[in-house]
Amino acid sequence: MAVSTYEETVNAHYSRKDVGENILEALEKAGKDVKALTVEDLAPIEEFHIGGRKPTLELARLAELSEGMRVVDVGCGIGGPARALAHYFGCEVVGVDLTEAFCAAANLLTERTGLAHKVTIRHGSALDLPLEDRSVDVVWMQHVGMNIQDKAGLFRELRRVLRPEGKLALYEVFAGTKPAEYFPVPWASGPELSHLVTPEEIRKPLESAGFRIEAWNDVTQASTDWFRAAMEKAMKEGPPSLSRGILMGPEFPIKAANVLRNLEEDRLRVIQAVLTLK
Ligand SMILES: C[S@@+](CC[C@H](N)C(=O)[O-])C[C@H]1O[C@@H](n2cnc3c(N)ncnc32)[C@H](O)[C@@H]1O
Repeated sequence: MAVSTYEETVNAHYSRKDVGENILEALEKAGKDVKALTVEDLAPIEEFHIGGRKPTLELARLAELSEGMRVVDVGCGIGGPARALAHYFGCEVVGVDLTEAFCAAANLLTERTGLAHKVTIRHGSALDLPLEDRSVDVVWMQHVGMNIQDKAGLFRELRRVLRPEGKLALYEVFAGTKPAEYFPVPWASGPELSHLVTPEEIRKPLESAGFRIEAWNDVTQASTDWFRAAMEKAMKEGPPSLSRGILMGPEFPIKAANVLRNLEEDRLRVIQAVLTLK
């Protein structure tokens, strides 16, 4: 029997055929000019985490991102947050993702939004970032850590590329008081790819590794409320034309329902955090 590598497993889970092209097709049907898109046009689909664009902007403000800062977006997905940081905050962003299909979509959408001078997409792993030591002002990560079992290796690598006094900005999913039971979820079809730990299991090692906590906010309730409202809206109005099913496949409604159930039963927590490397 063929044994999949970790990279193959991640790619098999997230890959969808022609993601970028399918997004363009849906936007064209909605009357958008797909040769010159804006980040607002893409906002309903390009942020692959709970809450969409809002938590990205909130985290960027919390981390005090500003013009010219060099940011690495670790596990950048189709590049939505990277483009938002470039567009709204003037950052120079390198997005790194292990899923090749998402890198291709990220490149296509970055080109169509005219942001290629500020956003570069690299195919690669969070555990082996294609960046020099101490080369970025901000390490940015949203909804990625739960796919990575080797947390010590992950945070060692994030620390390696960050300059002293640089910021680590996180918007991550963690374990609650009970194990996450309901699968599939957007990041995993089953427990094999879902490496959830409690917030405390990350917070203390980060402090020991030389990070000072600037903000550590449990946003689980807001995340639950957002999910419930989004699902109620979809039930009432039907799925939007720019459905997240393009990113998550036909099981999207089940994946969404399972996240909500896990959140409601305290099987998941969502944390927004900013730390400074001392
Ligand atoms: C739920 S998506 C979040 C995407 C993006 N951060 C966002 O918020 O829009 C998780 C992403 O992490 C990527 N990923 C998972 N494991 C990774 C790893 N070891 N290295 C780099 N990317 C990884 C996946 O390919 C996927 O694009």
